[in-house]
This record gives sequence, structure tokens and C-alpha cells, in this order.
Amino acid sequence: MNNFEFQNPTKIVFGKGSIARLSDLLYKGEKIMMTYGGGSIKKNGVYDQVKKALEGFSVIEFGGIEPNPDFDTLMKAVEVCRKESVGVLLAVGGGSVIDGTKFIAAAVDFQGDPWNLLVKRAEPGEVLPIATVLTMPATGSEMNGNAVISRRATKEKRDMGHPKYFPMFSILDPEVVYSIPKRQKANGLIDAFIHVCEQYLTDDVDAQIQDRWSEGVMKTIVNIAPEVIKDNPTYDACANYMWSATCALNNFINPGVNQDWSTHMIGHELTALCGLDHGVTLAIVLPGTIRVLDKFKRKKLEMFCENVWNLPDGKGDAAADFAIQKTERFFNSLGVKTRLSDYGIGEDVITEIVRRFRERGAVLGEHGIVTPEVAEQILRNRL
Ligand code: NZQ
Ligand code: ZN
Repeated sequence: MNNFEFQNPTKIVFGKGSIARLSDLLYKGEKIMMTYGGGSIKKNGVYDQVKKALEGFSVIEFGGIEPNPDFDTLMKAVEVCRKESVGVLLAVGGGSVIDGTKFIAAAVDFQGDPWNLLVKRAEPGEVLPIATVLTMPATGSEMNGNAVISRRATKEKRDMGHPKYFPMFSILDPEVVYSIPKRQKANGLIDAFIHVCEQYLTDDVDAQIQDRWSEGVMKTIVNIAPEVIKDNPTYDACANYMWSATCALNNFINPGVNQDWSTHMIGHELTALCGLDHGVTLAIVLPGTIRVLDKFKRKKLEMFCENVWNLPDGKGDAAADFAIQKTERFFNSLGVKTRLSDYGIGEDVITEIVRRFRERGAVLGEHGIVTPEVAEQILRNRL
């Protein structure tokens, strides 16, 4: 196991009816800006629950944050925060609203062009405190210090991370899952599953606790997915889905292990250039990453076959075949297609992604093994 430091400062308030706890958790003296997305919270009752809990608080609202939150939209919110002297941000939504809110929180006090928080990973100044009410389990953003921001004007999608971006607290009420459309539930299940893969399908560093936790999260996701994807899932399936997605990317499973985020970095380019949902991009790319990096990941692929898929025969050359077959079938069972050609994407997009990676000097993967040329092989495998 590698050396590590671990800290996760976000308090989680989990369960039915927990949105009402907002009134105890927020401080009445501060001006709150509540951020949200395209309006789903107004249809499913979450907006009303939040407003009720915040009666007597000073609250302004900023709605309209889009899926894959856009830099230009967020900069409008930054202006409002500065003008209104906002003291706390309350994100009510999925990963996009939460990520967008982290960016707003960091940009308000930032000197210079806030895009540099992403492309140059610039050190933030003072970051406004953030709290969240999660409405869509997927990204883990409710309990991590990361955010991914898009810029439609230049067809870019870039990420940022800093300990100052962790939310102070997040409210996780599994009943919000009832109103999520099937397409988004599939995206969320796949995203969470692949977050674990990026931290588990790497080198074997004999980190046994982290490996067993990772396998537990993946097995839970596979186990509950058929129920979650139904029109009226049970409360417990929703609760397990919600907590799995948080635990997949809140640093519990990754202390002291090597990580490979190349599937995500390639996926971000597919969203930026072609507009595909985040979860869909990952479902396309992951089988290619496994195929091309098979020899580097062999020991963990064997562990994955045996402990997640119950396939003790998945040894040696067979490990990658079994792993790809099983995971692709799982994604397909959720209604998600896994080939670039299924989405009308061809060679021209691959050429542009490779050009961008070369221009940025991108070397991805656990030991910088995913050069632009290797990314090209991964994508060609998915045509
Ligand atoms: O905008 P509204 O109207 O709220 O509708 C949203 C949106 O259309 C809808 N939705 C959310 N909760 C709902 C609901 N509809 C009905 N009922 C509910 N309870 O779902 C749609 C998608 O929402 P979005 O927030 O975009 O989804 P997700 O949580 O998957 O977030 C995706 C974004 O997070 C980034 C992705 O790249 C993408 O930009 N990621 C963030 C990460 C992080 N911060 O750690 C890591 C991830 O790997 C990921 O990259
Ligand atoms: Zn993801």
C-alpha cells in the first residue's frame, strides 16, 4: 500500500425527510444563494421542501444551471454573488448543479480569469462555503472536492479539484430518486460503477481494505440496478443506490492506491465535442481502456472477475475478455449502447481528441502510460 493522507470534512445527513434538517444546519445571519438546474426540483417537490425549511432565512435564487454546467452561465451567478454579498451557497441538484456551485464559490473572490481555476489549476483565494441537497446520485460531488465545468463557446470540458471545494454538509434523501428519468438513473449507476473502476482496475498494491470496499460498492450497484431502473423502485434500492454513488467517489476507496482516470478524461472530450451524457461516454470508453491496458491491469482484472463477477476462471488472457463481456452486458442491460458508431461518432472525432491531447501534452493513466497515441488505440477499439 502507498503512503497516504486522508481527510473528508463533509457531513452527510442521510434519509427520508432529511431536507427539513436544513433549518438547523444553516446559519440565519448569512445571505444564502440557492442554486438549481432546469426545473426538475419544482416538479418533484424538492424546491417546496427546501423553501419550507428555509422560511425566515435570507435566500436568493439562481436557477438554470444546465447539465454539464456552462462557464458563461456560472459567471452570471458569480456577478450576482458579488453584488448581493452572498455568504453561503446552497446547491440543490445533481452533479452539474453542485459542480457549478463549487466553481461559483471559488470564482467570486478569484483575482484574474476564473477559467484558470480549471485549465491552470490555479490556487483559489477565499472560497464561499457550500452546502448541498443532492437530487441525483452519480458523481459523488456531494462529498468530494472536485468539479467539472464545460465551456460551450470553445467546446471544452475541464476539471478542478481542491480541499476548499468540499461541501460543509450534504443532505441525501433517497426519495428524490423516484422522479429521476430512466436515462439519468442509467447514467448515474454507470458513472458510479466506473468511478470505482478508475480507482480499482489499476496496479495491485496489496491495499486489501480498499479493494474489498471497492468490490462491495460495485457488487451493490450491480445488485440493485434492476430494481433502481424500474418506474417505482423500492426505498431501500434507492437508498443503496444513493450511498453507493457517494462512496464511489468520496476518497473512502482510494487512499494509498494508484488511480487511472483516463476513461474519464477521454469521456470528457466526447461530451465536449459531441454532447453525449457523461455516463454514456464512460460506458463507451471503459471496455477499450481494459482491452488496450490489459497487460498493466492483469492482476486487478483477475480479482475483478473473481470477486465482482463471480468468475474464478477469468485468469490470464481470459480476464480482460470476461471483464469486458460482463461490464458491457451490464451497461447494455440499463439501455445504454457502448460503441461510438451507435452514436454516429467516427474517425474525425478521434483525430480531434488526439490533437487536443497532444496540444495539452496530456499523459494519462496510473503511470502516464496513456499517451495521446494510446488514447487513440482505446478510441479506435470502440468504433
Ligand atoms: O437540471 P434539472 O432540471 O435539475 O434536471 C436534471 C438534469 O436534466 C435531472 N435531474 C436531477 N435530479 C433529478 C432530475 N430529474 C428528475 N428528478 C430528480 N431528482 O437529471 C439531469 C442530469 O443532471 P446532472 O446534474 O447533469 O447529472 P449528474 O449528477 O450525472 O452530473 C453530471 C456532471 O457531473 C460531472 C460530469 O462531468 C457532468 O458535468 N462529474 C462530476 C464529478 C465530480 N464533481 O466529482 C465526477 C464525475 O466523474 C463527473 O465528471
Ligand atoms: Zn464520472
